Amino acid sequence: MIQIKDNKFVLNTKNTTYCFEISDTGHAMHRYYGKRVRFLPNLSDFDVIRQKREFITGNSIAYDKDHQALAMEDECLEISGSGKGDLRSPFISLVFADGSRTVDFIYDSCTLEKGTAERKTLPGSYGEEADVLTVSFVEKYYKVRLNIVYTVYEEENVITRYADLINEGSDPVRVERILSLQLDLPDSGYEGIFFDGAWAREMHSYHTSLAHGMHVSRSYTGTSSNRANPFFMVARPQTNEDRGECFGFNLIYSGNHMEITDANAYGKIRIQSGINEEGFAYILKPGDTFEAPEAVMSFSDSGLNALSHNMHFFVREHIVRGEWKYKDRPILLNSWEAAYFKFDEAKLLKLAKRASDAGIELFVMDDGWFGERDDDTKSLGDWVVNKKKLPGGLSGLADKINKLGLSFGLWVEPEMVNVNSDLYEEHPDWCLANPKRDHSEGRNQRVLDLSRKEVREYIIDTMSRVFSSANIAYVKWDMNRIFSDVYSGSARAGSVIVVDETGTHEVVNEEAISQHQGEVAHRYVLGLYEIMGALTEKFPHILFEGCASGGNRFDLGILCYFPQIWASDNTDPICRAEIQQGYSYGYPLETMGAHVSASPNHQTLRRTQLRTRFAVAAFGSLGYECNLNDFTKEQMDEIKDEIAVYKKYREIFQHGKFFRGGMGPLADLVPISDATSVLFNPTGVGNITEWTIATRYGTKAVGLMLKKLVAPNTQNMRYFPKGLEENTEYHFFNHELTYDIRDFGDLVNTVTPIHVKQDSLLMDLLAKKVKLPAETEDYTAYGSLLMSAGVALKQNFSGTGYNENVRYDQDFSGKLFFIEDVDEEVLKEKGAEATPEPEVTEAELAELAAEAEGENVSSQETVEEEAPAAVENTEEYEITDEESEEAEEEDDNEDDESDEEYEDDEDDSDEEYEESEETDGDNN
Ligand code: DGJ
Repeated sequence: MIQIKDNKFVLNTKNTTYCFEISDTGHAMHRYYGKRVRFLPNLSDFDVIRQKREFITGNSIAYDKDHQALAMEDECLEISGSGKGDLRSPFISLVFADGSRTVDFIYDSCTLEKGTAERKTLPGSYGEEADVLTVSFVEKYYKVRLNIVYTVYEEENVITRYADLINEGSDPVRVERILSLQLDLPDSGYEGIFFDGAWAREMHSYHTSLAHGMHVSRSYTGTSSNRANPFFMVARPQTNEDRGECFGFNLIYSGNHMEITDANAYGKIRIQSGINEEGFAYILKPGDTFEAPEAVMSFSDSGLNALSHNMHFFVREHIVRGEWKYKDRPILLNSWEAAYFKFDEAKLLKLAKRASDAGIELFVMDDGWFGERDDDTKSLGDWVVNKKKLPGGLSGLADKINKLGLSFGLWVEPEMVNVNSDLYEEHPDWCLANPKRDHSEGRNQRVLDLSRKEVREYIIDTMSRVFSSANIAYVKWDMNRIFSDVYSGSARAGSVIVVDETGTHEVVNEEAISQHQGEVAHRYVLGLYEIMGALTEKFPHILFEGCASGGNRFDLGILCYFPQIWASDNTDPICRAEIQQGYSYGYPLETMGAHVSASPNHQTLRRTQLRTRFAVAAFGSLGYECNLNDFTKEQMDEIKDEIAVYKKYREIFQHGKFFRGGMGPLADLVPISDATSVLFNPTGVGNITEWTIATRYGTKAVGLMLKKLVAPNTQNMRYFPKGLEENTEYHFFNHELTYDIRDFGDLVNTVTPIHVKQDSLLMDLLAKKVKLPAETEDYTAYGSLLMSAGVALKQNFSGTGYNENVRYDQDFSGKLFFIEDVDEEVLKEKGAEATPEPEVTEAELAELAAEAEGENVSSQETVEEEAPAAVENTEEYEITDEESEEAEEEDDNEDDESDEEYEDDEDDSDEEYEESEETDGDNN
């Protein structure tokens, strides 16, 4: 709701108030942004919050002769120029035709409307019910107008603002900076929480005091970038996940951006964001309008989780659009880490068959299907199917995949070209490159110049042809390099369209080329939006997933067109937990593509359990990206089970309310030794990731506890669910598991009657048949108890004993919990959930013996074991003397060989598995 009276403006959301007023000098003075407050109906109480000043202080500039006490540097301003005494970072920097750089915008008028309007060049938030306030300012001496447009999303507690700059004069104006957000707050006692990173380690959160000086987080990669995400937060120092005052900001833009905080000499802070001014200069011709991207802001007085909820519901409701807005995202299998460039139709179909059997719903063919694309040095730009790999073309493959019960999707990277390609040969001038310089390449490719119309048309046409050539349900839109040598040979901005008797021509002169180079990076982004807009409109059924070497372009601009984005090329669950947690501050889970991949992981070589990989990937739009044909039957059974779990709870994972546990990025308020040491802080910061995702009204929830490193003798782990209803009775239970005896290594000998050598063939054989029962967590309690007291989990393994009531986590172990509103059905399920006692039947024993025989381990007699005291194993199994002796002997003599045989045996035992192939390791 927006209230306007006597040049006073109050913008209210459900829980927040934002207000400003026009001073008698015509400046928009910011007065308050925070928890919702109540004003008198005539707004006369603005007096309370108005800054008082009778005299100018020493060494300050008085604004003008009639306002001797007004020092612009000590006012909170909605927009700021330069040259009139404000020494802080300006909102806008202009150079007028006479060279003047002083900029001073004065209030002119305002309008109030219901519902957002589409912008000409940029995507933005949308809402029919939103209140939209346009405040129009004019430059005091030059004919330039600046419209600041505020949109209020009441339910989501979000206010957005953008700027349109209109040249109403007769001379061009050089725009050197025009930002989107400016929020001046009266004190600078805040911490900033920003997200930096690099390829494969995106969204690393760091926090820094903002009390003094300036802090800049920015991207200059041509993309919103993995180096600095445009989402950031500003919080009171004591704020944590569930308490404290904090602001969140984002930008609906996919190119170079900057976020600035500037604390001044008077203890005020200015918070800004917008297009990065580095390399930027836009010549605004008479009559033209420059649209600056839309900035998003939100406030919460109850911690970072609540702030994230505002952001999540805003993104869902007012950013993501089209058919996929509320639709469940399919579980996919992506071929990249399964095969890289090395595939043909048969291999893909084999993979797809496995995927389909496991319950996967969408098969995605990644890079390598077109031109002569056998590695990353060639063929980008040549979007013609490689018939050697796919003789039936895209439609042939898609049909076969569809017959397996899967929908079909594919990878494209339309914004790029390899020099080694037909496209480059034909149009070498279509790239961003300076013909006078050697070009600096990235991943052997160049960036197509999307500021050129003919390039945009080429991409729209070519992609339209590809997308309509088969039954394509999904497209992964990749973009694998950052910008260098930004130079457009066309500089369209400076070109003139001439129509004569021979047709329509673009006339570009040298002057135009040189003058407009500062626009190219921005015009690239506008070109990209035009392309994405055209294709998503043309193919509304396709689910598009954005990608840029993973998360190099994870932003709200992309999400206006593509409902999900591949969050990182790093699929290691331990790294991913941090990356996904980073994104979760500003973006809802379903916008993040998250995949289960191989172990050892291809980016870190870390080994992790399948259940951990699944548990982390489930908190996103789930996919698999591994060669399922190399997985054992046991692993495939586990995958099937996990997929069933995801399907059961998909609605929560993809549309729920997400909570981070623990204390969040401000956690190093904990003494530093405690915060960083697993030994001193085994259950805390950094070592344990604790997440809960609940339905919006808390009827059901799923939780995760992920432990990085095990610390001994730390028995008392508690899981604190969030988002439940205080007075609802819940059934709390864990994901049914069993443990692999190999994880206990040499310790198994405390229960075996015969010695089983660690890492031996015998151990492997036993492990196939014998599973240790895992702890069961099963409680019924009210939400208030679960949330406030936490769930005291079963005792942690500590080396002094083990039974089925001991909770055992290895390093890098993640486990899921489920919390359901108690009703009859759930209670029934509860009965069936109990972990069955593992048992080795006679038939299985015979099978075991036969297998062992195959490995030269004969079996005649059996020996009964008795559990020694050290480990109270409830399980029973039998094994022959000879079997064990021979296996031991074999282990002693032929350790390596027997291991190999076992692997072979595994492959043989499941004939439909293809032999694993080496990948070329290109994980870029
Ligand atoms: C980078 C992406 O992030 C990967 O997932 C994969 O699609 C490769 N590109 C393919 O070249």
